[in-house]
Amino acid sequence: MTIRTYIPRRGRVSERQATAIAEAGGLLLPMGAEILDLGEIFAGLPVVLEVGFGTGSATVTMAESAPDLGILAVDVHTPGLGDLLYRTRERRLTNIRAIAGDALVVAEQMLSQSALEGIRTFFPDPWPKARHHKRRLVAPANAALLASRTKVGGFWHLATDWQPYAEQMQEVLDASRQWTGGVIPRPTDRPITRYEATAIREHRNSTDLWYRRTKVS
Ligand SMILES: C[S@@+](CC[C@H](N)C(=O)[O-])C[C@H]1O[C@@H](n2cnc3c(N)ncnc32)[C@H](O)[C@@H]1O
Repeated sequence: MTIRTYIPRRGRVSERQATAIAEAGGLLLPMGAEILDLGEIFAGLPVVLEVGFGTGSATVTMAESAPDLGILAVDVHTPGLGDLLYRTRERRLTNIRAIAGDALVVAEQMLSQSALEGIRTFFPDPWPKARHHKRRLVAPANAALLASRTKVGGFWHLATDWQPYAEQMQEVLDASRQWTGGVIPRPTDRPITRYEATAIREHRNSTDLWYRRTKVS
């Protein structure tokens, strides 16, 4: 069985979150084995896959400031899904769609080759214990899968507050012929999420990495 990058957890779903999910309509796409028609879903906008949106606070802020980009936001955590959908409705954003599920399965089964303009992965679970490193999202096979779904010239923006993981991200992506890039200064358009605010309080600096999908001959 494939190793998951998360542990399924229940978490209490508030009434507001449950209502947002129940009334999501077309904002929430079902998991499935069919390739998504992103052109139709996002009315021709270039599309960014956000892997692990958490509560969606960064998702909505970035979507609001870049209405010419479609955001396919994927996470496994139900309360956060409710938050994202609530915020999307509240701000009347039309360029976000959510999927409740494993973003790697979405990439593998529901996205065609070169479908994406880019990928965002902000603060993926760091899995600090050595015996859990195999669960880290940024690993060679996942980097190859995500590269195959990203157009040549497209991007992968990552951020982490876990320095050893930042180093692993660099090692994995630098070793891949499909990605080129490295550490960048913190982009001003990436909002501070609750997760990052905790890291700041605990004196962990964040590292941003920006990689471009290369043409592999
Ligand atoms: C530490 S949280 C960070 C959330 C958010 N990006 C932020 O910056 O606040 C990591 C998130 O990734 C999600 N996650 C982990 N593996 C995932 C996967 N394979 N597909 C989708 N979401 C995943 C978790 O459920 C969790 O919400």
